Amino acid sequence: MSDLIGMYPTWYVPQIGTAWVMGIIGTIHVLASNTSVGAAVLFAMLESRAVRENKPEIMQYIKKYGMFLLVFSYIWGSVTGPGIWYSVTVASPRGISALIHNFVWAWATEWIFFTVEVIGVYALVYTIGKIDPKTHLKITWTFVVSSIATLVLIVGILSFMMWPGNDRWYLTGSVFDAFFNLNFAAQLAERGFLMLTSAAVVGSIIVAAIPKGDPLRRDVGKTVAQLGLFGLVGGALAFMWYVATLPPNALLMLKDRLPHWFGYVDFRVTTFMPLAITSLLIGLYLLWVYLKPHAVRVPLAAGMVVILLIAGIWPEERTRESLRKPWVAGQYMYSNQIIGRDVPGLGIQDEVPIIAKEGLLKTAAFVPADLRVITPQNQMQAGRLLAVMSCSNCHSLNKDGPLRPLPQLLHGTTDVAMIQGFLAGPLAHGTVPYMPKIDLPDDEQKALATFLAAVNAGTVDAEGHLIARAAPAAAPLHTAVAQAAAQPVKAKD
Ligand code: HEC
Repeated sequence: MSDLIGMYPTWYVPQIGTAWVMGIIGTIHVLASNTSVGAAVLFAMLESRAVRENKPEIMQYIKKYGMFLLVFSYIWGSVTGPGIWYSVTVASPRGISALIHNFVWAWATEWIFFTVEVIGVYALVYTIGKIDPKTHLKITWTFVVSSIATLVLIVGILSFMMWPGNDRWYLTGSVFDAFFNLNFAAQLAERGFLMLTSAAVVGSIIVAAIPKGDPLRRDVGKTVAQLGLFGLVGGALAFMWYVATLPPNALLMLKDRLPHWFGYVDFRVTTFMPLAITSLLIGLYLLWVYLKPHAVRVPLAAGMVVILLIAGIWPEERTRESLRKPWVAGQYMYSNQIIGRDVPGLGIQDEVPIIAKEGLLKTAAFVPADLRVITPQNQMQAGRLLAVMSCSNCHSLNKDGPLRPLPQLLHGTTDVAMIQGFLAGPLAHGTVPYMPKIDLPDDEQKALATFLAAVNAGTVDAEGHLIARAAPAAAPLHTAVAQAAAQPVKAKD
């Protein structure tokens, strides 16, 4: 038996795929966490003014928003935060392991700041009006500093996922070379600006809840809108900087490989239609809040938060995830959990040549014993397992799945030899920049191609179940199943 590579079992989610599970949880989390950091900055600005101009009524807004934040950001954030950990741990176990091994101390530091942040927001809300304003302002600043520290630390980790952007890290394996990667500052700027906008849009709900005619509405409403607009303009500029720090594979994805519903306009810097429209809409809304703070109503403000979530953060996060393809971390760990290059600094070895020589079914740890060797009887199941392990992280296996469905990308072909030609050609040579180099031995290629062709032919579903449809109506079921089972095997050359 050959040496095993440290692959975990693959978590396969029928229909939507694991990427969407992580994406949905992550999107809610980003709204909650970004809003909280942005709100911290807003609170500090407003409270400084309240102290300086002796306007204690401003504190009522901060108190209301703070209470809202406790429910909105801290409950939803606390549910989705562990949700991200659970889902990424099973969806991308080696990806998360790679990050933990690189950043364990950065993460530990982040948790300390996060604890201060959570205590800070409770202390901030519950001591308003109970302690002297100057001391309270210090609590607010503690909340701001710890919130920003969590942002900085998390962005260092997230931006390393895109790429280190230099060769040094591969040689040193140093956490600093990983953390201060090429993408770090630009992503920090982009998130930093846009979270002010998140906080402003969410904060407009609280503005709308201030009684009409109360002068506080105008006073606070204008500041909230200004901060949000400032964040939006800064975010747009930072986005261009961010694009300039992306690796070539990401630029290629950005140009023409994103799901078509993104659409794009090719300015000097590629911008996405929906994201541009969403930004414009939010910009106009904030401008309107600025001009007419008395007119804002809660349902409209809440509607804008939903738009921000669904038409802003969701496509933005999905884009960022897509751009990284084929890698999940540091341009050495592929999204399908296989290590795709040497990292001498950490003693990590490229696994592609090992798989090419021994086969994935023989080297991956969690493969059922009866699928390690391919036979005509198990070929279909072996092919399906290969598809699940090497493709399903990035592709839905079923035709109507939302994630780059393979049957569509293969144009529904049922020609096993043609599919195998693709597997043996571009995929095995690693010439597709947004796909991993997947170099399988001949028998595994054939099994995988047979399975993919059978799904396209409709004789097998993405779950590997035989579909009896191909049989004549009068035939008894067992004959139908036997025919369906025999068909793909016959199809091999
Ligand atoms: C790391 C992510 C990733 C993995 C793993 C992956 N692909 Fe892809 N694949 C992509 C992306 C991204 C595209 C571009 C999709 C698009 O253009 O809509 C793509 C496109 C394709 C296409 C269309 C041809 C082309 O050049 O655009 C085929 C066929 C394909 N993949 C097959 C596979 C097969 C088979 C596997 C498993 C053996 C696989 N892919 C694994 C990311 C991946």
